[in-house]
Amino acid sequence: MEQDDPAEALTELRERRPGAWELLQVAAGSGLAAYAVWALLLQPGFRSVPLRLQVPYVGASARQVEHVLSLLRGRPGKMVDLGSGDGRIVLAAHRCGLRPAVGYELNPWLVGLARLHAWRAGYADSVCYHREDLWKVNLRDCHNVSVFLAPSVLPLLEDKLQAELPTGARVVSGRFPLPTWQPVAVVGEGLDRVWAYDIHRGGPAGQAASGPGSASVPGVPGSHVG
Ligand SMILES: C[S@@+](CC[C@H](N)C(=O)[O-])C[C@H]1O[C@@H](n2cnc3c(N)ncnc32)[C@H](O)[C@@H]1O
Repeated sequence: MEQDDPAEALTELRERRPGAWELLQVAAGSGLAAYAVWALLLQPGFRSVPLRLQVPYVGASARQVEHVLSLLRGRPGKMVDLGSGDGRIVLAAHRCGLRPAVGYELNPWLVGLARLHAWRAGYADSVCYHREDLWKVNLRDCHNVSVFLAPSVLPLLEDKLQAELPTGARVVSGRFPLPTWQPVAVVGEGLDRVWAYDIHRGGPAGQAASGPGSASVPGVPGSHVG
């Protein structure tokens, strides 16, 4: 039936209930759009990484970044963020004096974004972002390591860190703790929580601390042992 009055046509349109076919089309369209975003923007670079080691991008919260820095501030030596995303932790680390600050990230879009942020902040030549698989990076010269990765990959990461990091290095893990190591300090609550671990000569990290009094980070308000 022809509908000449626009107001009536609008009312009719509002009252009309979508059919099952239309709902199915909307659902399929949204699913396809979500897949396209995932495949084009979030997934590139990961073809060579086994599915069980793939970790999606989720940016650290502002609180989480603060907590990471509270556990690393003032420490000497190279700082790296493994899976650096848009580079927010690396940039903040450089700003608070950790030098050099380096990010390793597989997703080329995120590496580009991180470089853009650094350039806009005036640190294009000071911070460094590599498009590299974190599992292939040698950590022998890294004294400060930040990670925010999925719990499923953390057991394997523990092995890599233990095998490669020098004595005295510190690892901070955001949102999820390393599964078997004992933290020397924990800061924050809920999703913003960050755990710190120190690498000691021989034995698992954190367990060679020289006594109960040594298991805290001086000058970090609110930190406690996990
Ligand atoms: C949860 S996000 C954390 C991003 C950033 N560190 C932050 O805290 O904002 C994890 C990041 O690790 C990256 N990633 C996952 N597996 C990787 C790998 N094998 N090599 C390099 N980067 C990886 C992902 O692309 C993603 O950007």
